[in-house]
Amino acid sequence: HQDAQTSLLLWYQANGRHHLPWRHPLHPYEILISEMMLQQTQVNTVLERFYYPFLERFPTLESIARAEESEILLAWRGLGYYSRARNLHALAKTCQQGLPRSVSELEGLPGIGAYTARAIACFGFRESVAILDGNIKRILSRFFALLGVGERELWRRAEEFLNPLAAFDHNQALLDVGALLCKPKNPLCQECPLSPWCKGKEDPLRYTPSKTRRY
Ligand code: ADE
Repeated sequence: HQDAQTSLLLWYQANGRHHLPWRHPLHPYEILISEMMLQQTQVNTVLERFYYPFLERFPTLESIARAEESEILLAWRGLGYYSRARNLHALAKTCQQGLPRSVSELEGLPGIGAYTARAIACFGFRESVAILDGNIKRILSRFFALLGVGERELWRRAEEFLNPLAAFDHNQALLDVGALLCKPKNPLCQECPLSPWCKGKEDPLRYTPSKTRRY
């Protein structure tokens, strides 16, 4: 998939959402916070109302570990899905030495599933691992013209398509293609850097997974 990967990266360099602060992390903790927030909250809401104030109030994982749960919940107010805030507190208490960098250690920490573990490993620690969320499932289902396949097959495809030399940008680029071009109802195939190799582009809706929640 080298040509498609290169086309994706060139598109990302020119059109990616590089202004998103979690695209320029100084510390893996910032990735943890952004990914926990983005699990159930829209990018713009996180960006405009919650990301910076939360990091200002709790600038480190240690500051979370030291706080009372009620203080975390207060800072999380407005974001909803408060189990995320409780999980964050439990995670901080568990990881007194800092976040682990391997997927196997990250996965299974409170609130950290398959997607978030790999997002933290890739975006926080620059590990070369594939990620798969609802948007990327839709891209891959269309790109490979997959019908009725399960999680396992989609993860296998995500790994097959990963560009191991540029995993960070490759994965961020896929998130942007999913949000900006390969949309559920009105995909903008004419603008898509992947369309020359996309097996589903003649009928993208046919290859749109029906359930895109939970990953
Ligand atoms: N959703 C989850 N992670 C994201 C990221 N890094 N950029 C944009 N949207 C996201």
